[in-house]
Amino acid sequence: MEQARKITVFGATGKIGSDLIQLFSDAKIPVTAVTRSLKRAIPLPFVQWHQADMAHEEQLIPAIAEGGGVFLTSGPSPDFIQEQTNVIRAAQRAGVAHLVKLSSGEAYASSPLFIPRMHGLVETALTQADIPYTILRSNGMMQNWLGDLAESVRKERKFHESTGDGKRAYVDKRDVAEVAFNCLTKPKNHYVKTYFLTGGEAVNYNDVAAAISSVVQQPVAYVPISLEESRREMEQQNLPPALIETFIAYDTAQRNGEKALVTDCVSKLLGRPPRTIDQFFADHADCFR
Ligand SMILES: NC(=O)c1ccc[n+]([C@@H]2O[C@H](COP(=O)([O-])OP(=O)(O)OC[C@H]3O[C@@H](n4cnc5c(N)ncnc54)[C@H](OP(=O)(O)O)[C@@H]3O)[C@@H](O)[C@H]2O)c1
Repeated sequence: MEQARKITVFGATGKIGSDLIQLFSDAKIPVTAVTRSLKRAIPLPFVQWHQADMAHEEQLIPAIAEGGGVFLTSGPSPDFIQEQTNVIRAAQRAGVAHLVKLSSGEAYASSPLFIPRMHGLVETALTQADIPYTILRSNGMMQNWLGDLAESVRKERKFHESTGDGKRAYVDKRDVAEVAFNCLTKPKNHYVKTYFLTGGEAVNYNDVAAAISSVVQQPVAYVPISLEESRREMEQQNLPPALIETFIAYDTAQRNGEKALVTDCVSKLLGRPPRTIDQFFADHADCFR
């Protein structure tokens, strides 16, 4: 391991951030974890919590160490671009040595779609800042299945999706967090790099249903629905229109077989194959029983 640097993790209470601070804690490497509310702080050895809001650049400076490293993630929100740009500016002012940004497999500054555009614009700000950076573009994560899909399987032994037979190489968020940990602790190998992180195999929802059936030891059915039905469902759930348009575009592309790309980034960066969907469902079996 290279010389230890002070690391700051933004989004430390979130899906990837919480895994990442656990990895630092397990490795006995001190880390600063940022949250807007210390009530959400998870007490862990070697983790020091800091309360700050990415909406306010001045609050961020004290959390960031000169010559240190920063991990940047936050959930989609109307102020996402401004807030993540504030972190980049604060990191530059503090004189950080490396910033790792969690991005999306779909990141285009000129995209008409909300999530690709918000990540694309922040990526542009980062590449134009004077900070050595690493961008982790994550494919869709397996952990998304722990919400509505798992509930539907528990209740009805079936679930629905609008991607037809289209495949995607979903990635386990634990692999994404391990990649982030490696990049932050051995930064020199990863300066000015963008990695597209996928699972090891593109799968469709027939494959997912078979993997869940095997774990719960009962038949679980995948019920394909149309894009129009999916849109109506998201409207009934009151999702913001910008997110609905993004998710419909993602599902359309997957239906059309345009999202099956598999990369070797995770296996090269971790020195082992990515976790499979079978491993994922075995590890989370109780959520689907
Ligand atoms: N899910 C996927 O399949 C997938 C795939 C590719 C990329 N991504 C990207 O992954 C990222 C994470 O999304 P998620 O929905 O899973 O969210 P999340 O990581 O579970 O949670 C959001 C985190 O952001 C922090 N945060 C939000 N606004 C903040 C602010 N103003 N100041 C300080 N902290 C703030 C929250 O901290 P507090 O609430 O504690 O303050 C929380 O820790 C997104 O950028 C998403 O586009 C997701």
